[in-house]
Amino acid sequence: MGKILVTGGAGYIGSQICKLLRKHKNEIIIFDNLSTGKKKYTKYGKFIYGDLRNKKDIYKTFKKNKISSVIHLAASCLVGESQKKIDEYYENNVVGTINLLDCIIKFKAKNLIFSSTCSVYGNKNKRIKEDEILKPINVYGETKKICEEMIQTYAVKYKFNYIILRYFNAAGADLDISLGEDRKNETHLIPLIFRSIKNKKPVKIYGRNCNTIDKTCVRDFIHVLDIAEAHIKSLSYLKLKKKSNIFNLGTGKGLSVLNILKMTSKVINKKIEYKYFDKRKGDPDYLVANARKIEKVLNFKNKYSKPKIIIESAWDWFNSIN
Ligand SMILES: NC(=O)c1ccc[n+]([C@@H]2O[C@H](COP(=O)([O-])OP(=O)(O)OC[C@H]3O[C@@H](n4cnc5c(N)ncnc54)[C@H](O)[C@@H]3O)[C@@H](O)[C@H]2O)c1
Repeated sequence: MGKILVTGGAGYIGSQICKLLRKHKNEIIIFDNLSTGKKKYTKYGKFIYGDLRNKKDIYKTFKKNKISSVIHLAASCLVGESQKKIDEYYENNVVGTINLLDCIIKFKAKNLIFSSTCSVYGNKNKRIKEDEILKPINVYGETKKICEEMIQTYAVKYKFNYIILRYFNAAGADLDISLGEDRKNETHLIPLIFRSIKNKKPVKIYGRNCNTIDKTCVRDFIHVLDIAEAHIKSLSYLKLKKKSNIFNLGTGKGLSVLNILKMTSKVINKKIEYKYFDKRKGDPDYLVANARKIEKVLNFKNKYSKPKIIIESAWDWFNSIN
């Protein structure tokens, strides 16, 4: 059996996937340029320092290792940043994926799992199914849509199978406090709430005129442990069924920014101050999954994606690294 290559395996979600893959006795190669990931989170596989934008780095990795499956997470993934650094986002996400696909073809890897995002959908204001028309409203979502399209075309022509997983909002940390979100430039709501508490500053809420119940943005939060488990199920599906597919990875339940603030305050028993700011460009009002397809086809059920578990685990993790 070949090895599993995890690009972006030093990052928040990738490290969690590697930990679970290792638990299932897989042999893992972690390929990462440590732009946002950290070496200390790569202990679950063999770490190779490399950059996907550099063809030689990824080529050498494939040449030295018999890779049968690839989990491709490496990307630049901040919505706000993508609106400013357009060229960098296209280069890192699209060129990086082309270089990876070249190696998948050349070295005949059989399976690819691609980390896509709900940002490919744009603003839909209803629970979104996988067959919705993709209309991203930010550059990040645009680059992921292009990658999805390339993967689908390449897979037919060059005969490999793929699963595209469109994650909604990843949140929470490992329950044993070994892994979690640890970025210098944090933009995700829950760790930002914790930082505000620590720094005794109000939480910034972007937008108070959204087309939602309480006028703040609504998102679908899925625990990172459930995301990791979905990759194990996806790999089994690829190996057994030898078919390609696309799944949302969410809960089907939307929570507004104000909901999250109230819940966090309750769970960690702290008062949280907040202040409104203008809505950020490229931020949809409402992003919630219809999550039934993955339940039905992969027999996948979220286990940890309850607000209390998400907030508690993220809080424990935050306190362990701060
Ligand atoms: N976090 C979320 O809520 C979320 C939601 C939807 C989709 N996703 C997708 O999941 C994936 C992982 O996200 P994350 O939150 O763990 O982010 P992250 O920034 O923690 O992880 C990304 C990893 O990729 C590495 N990387 C980036 N560019 C690279 C390159 N050119 N070559 C090699 N390595 C490179 C980084 O160093 C980092 O370790 C991304 O593809 C992202 O688009 C994340």
